[in-house]
Amino acid sequence: MKFFLDTADTSEIRELAATGLVDGVTTNPSLVAKSGRKFTDVIAEICTLTDGPVSAEVTATDAKAMIAEGRHLAKIAPNVAVKVPLTMDGLIACRTLREDGTMVNVTLCFSANQALLAAKADASFISPFIGRLDDQGDDGMQLIRDIRTIYDNYGYETEILAASIRHPAHVRAAALIGADVATMPGSVLRQMARHALTDRGLEAFLADWKKTGQSIL
Ligand code: E4P
Repeated sequence: MKFFLDTADTSEIRELAATGLVDGVTTNPSLVAKSGRKFTDVIAEICTLTDGPVSAEVTATDAKAMIAEGRHLAKIAPNVAVKVPLTMDGLIACRTLREDGTMVNVTLCFSANQALLAAKADASFISPFIGRLDDQGDDGMQLIRDIRTIYDNYGYETEILAASIRHPAHVRAAALIGADVATMPGSVLRQMARHALTDRGLEAFLADWKKTGQSIL
């Protein structure tokens, strides 16, 4: 499973990329606004911090303007994945940008039928938003399950990018279903490494080791 960081915070990306666990980055207009930086500058910097796909979202709403914005964003670096919303215009833009040879992430997916359309538009990634579905009492993970089944039924190569992840249990469930990618805040990636029994066990091992008076080096 690939792990993307869902942030436009370049210090956080730099720090976590150094772990070797990060395969790409996703951003959205809200995350860019939070960074307080110029959109194209922040995307250009992120593209130097990872070789993996870096999602940069268009803000136009009609296909022609989305294509123009997408082409502009794609020129920033070869690892830019243009993000388009799951609307009819977004799907048209997706097809054209894919024909240009650009990676496209179709975002704001909330139904299996939307995901089916994205695969037919040759999206590189489909982003179902698990957390936002759970927030309103729906079952976000069922959507990931449905998309996995549909894509496998027809051999679609669009990668399922589990998005709007809120906690490690979301990552575990998406991995069990076979989502290709999980995009998450850095805090979730850090939480995944933690376990109380690991801390307790390590503490006991170190205490016993101290008693031996030895050192490895
Ligand atoms: C994905 O690409 C989105 O940026 C993101 O996962 C949205 O998550 P949110 O629901 O926490 O805003």
